[in-house]
Amino acid sequence: MSFERVIGMESKTLPVMQGDYQLRDYEQTAKDFKWSEAEKEFSWHETGLINIAHEAVDRHANSYRKNKVALFYKDANRKETYTFHEMKRMSNKAANVLRNHSSLDKGDRLFVFMPRSPELYFAILGALKMGTIVGPLFEAFMEGAVFDRLSDSEAKAVVTTPELVSRIPIDKLPHLKTIFLVGDNIEEDSKFIDFNKHLKEASPYFQVEWLERESPTLLHYTSGSTGKPKGVLHVQEAMVQQLQTAKWVMDLKDEDVFWCTADPGWVTGTAYGIFGPMLAGATSLILGGRFSTDSWYESIQEYGVTVWYSAPTAFRMLMGAGAGPLEKYDLSSLRHILSVGEPLNPEVIRWGMEVFNLRIHDTWWMTETGAQTICNFGSLPIKPGSMGKPVPGIEAAIVDDRGQILRPNQMGNLAIKKGWPAMMRQIWNNPEKYDSYFLNNEWYVSGDSAYMDEDGYFFFQGRVDDVIMTSGERVGPFEVESKLLEHPAIVEAGVIGKPDPVRGEIIKAFIALHEGYEPSEELADAIKQFVKKELAAHAAPREIEFKDKLPKTRSGKIMRRVLKAWELNLPVGDLSTMED
Ligand code: WT7
Repeated sequence: MSFERVIGMESKTLPVMQGDYQLRDYEQTAKDFKWSEAEKEFSWHETGLINIAHEAVDRHANSYRKNKVALFYKDANRKETYTFHEMKRMSNKAANVLRNHSSLDKGDRLFVFMPRSPELYFAILGALKMGTIVGPLFEAFMEGAVFDRLSDSEAKAVVTTPELVSRIPIDKLPHLKTIFLVGDNIEEDSKFIDFNKHLKEASPYFQVEWLERESPTLLHYTSGSTGKPKGVLHVQEAMVQQLQTAKWVMDLKDEDVFWCTADPGWVTGTAYGIFGPMLAGATSLILGGRFSTDSWYESIQEYGVTVWYSAPTAFRMLMGAGAGPLEKYDLSSLRHILSVGEPLNPEVIRWGMEVFNLRIHDTWWMTETGAQTICNFGSLPIKPGSMGKPVPGIEAAIVDDRGQILRPNQMGNLAIKKGWPAMMRQIWNNPEKYDSYFLNNEWYVSGDSAYMDEDGYFFFQGRVDDVIMTSGERVGPFEVESKLLEHPAIVEAGVIGKPDPVRGEIIKAFIALHEGYEPSEELADAIKQFVKKELAAHAAPREIEFKDKLPKTRSGKIMRRVLKAWELNLPVGDLSTMED
């Protein structure tokens, strides 16, 4: 199938906007749209009082949606259904457990560190009802990664499981007072609290904390190219954009069953794994466990998923699994598919057209933007290879390093005009870092390079920095290099993303060994295991290449750019700063 055919093709359903939000004409809507209109749906528009968990859950529980399913949950062991009314009760109970068994208060940090389960969602919503800041941690994080995040944020409490608790270096975290354990037969003391036991007994009534538009909600740690992971702080107001994009981009309506495949350890799994669909009053499916072609297709069939949000790596894996599994399941409930996290190859769009007869809609955004910003939404004709256009209310441009807007088709920094509702409001404990994201106090500079064509479509070109996107997960090379240097055999380490047909990129480490160590396959394996155990499985190098010496600047900085050029057989470019 050629691109031309894909471009002109219509979605299976009719143009996807409805009601007040119908996008008759993109340019017109983008021009007239005001975020202040979008927030009129929330009750805080009338009361001035804000709480995102109230708007996502209680508001619906107090409406005709009371007995509508909010959440289908399924994993290998559990299969449960919760209505909005039940979600309200369970999140109230969770709030009572957190409040009654810890000193957590408004503005304190609570981390959730556990695999997906209904309790994870109750805990997140319950904490938000108290006005506590929630920091989600991906379950794959190991001790070093957990420590960095809990210590930087001075977390007071964690909700975790007996399996994962050993990865929390409690003795080294003086601010950490309470550990809520989600499991069976928990032995309690002043520090360890049996979450499920108290959840059962807790009152289902809770008075939510009423907060300000600018009150903080979530703290997502994410990687850059230098330094430790940074805490990206979001606020209540983000919900305006989460709801609006749930309508415009996800096209969520009352009758939809929405499935976002992301874990809440990543921003996609909170903004669209929880808030977007819940704020819109749609039904969500949450599937625990890991990727598997059969269980994914089976779940779409079983729950009649209509709108599906996933990532290119997952689509490529499904693509690789071929037609066999597809023939076993009826996937005709699907009517809208979206993608995020990495470039969506035209090849994958073509596959989607063939097997689902639907266009896969690429969406571009990042932890720092808090919600979708540049998307193939609504009635916009898709140009395969493009991330789409700015959603109404968002102003995006390609700027040079001084903040000058470049002409169409010129490559430069992808930037967003400061001041959108879901924009991060702080880098935790690091105001200088926060300011450094903004050029002339006007443009947020994303770290991605891109260009915009004459029609206003944006095309992703790559990262400006060395950040690695592997299977849609963001990994900072510095974090991996630092961990590698803790290994006794390693004297120097440089880490790059190496292009990979399925995962987008894989992590490749170049390593120089200390005197007395010899390169070997066993050593390479041991090093991979070391990073897996200490940092996280997804951050471990899949490839290791031993070198006598690594290219460095005179000031001692590893030149990843040279490593990348070696790897890709490209010209190494300017080497004037390299040491002899
Ligand atoms: C980086 C942000 C919130 C989304 C999940 C990742 C890359 C994201 C796309 C896309 C090409 C994309 C960018 C961005 N990225 N979406 N549609 N096409 N690249 O969030 O972990 O904060 O990573 O993901 O490089 O800067 P994140």
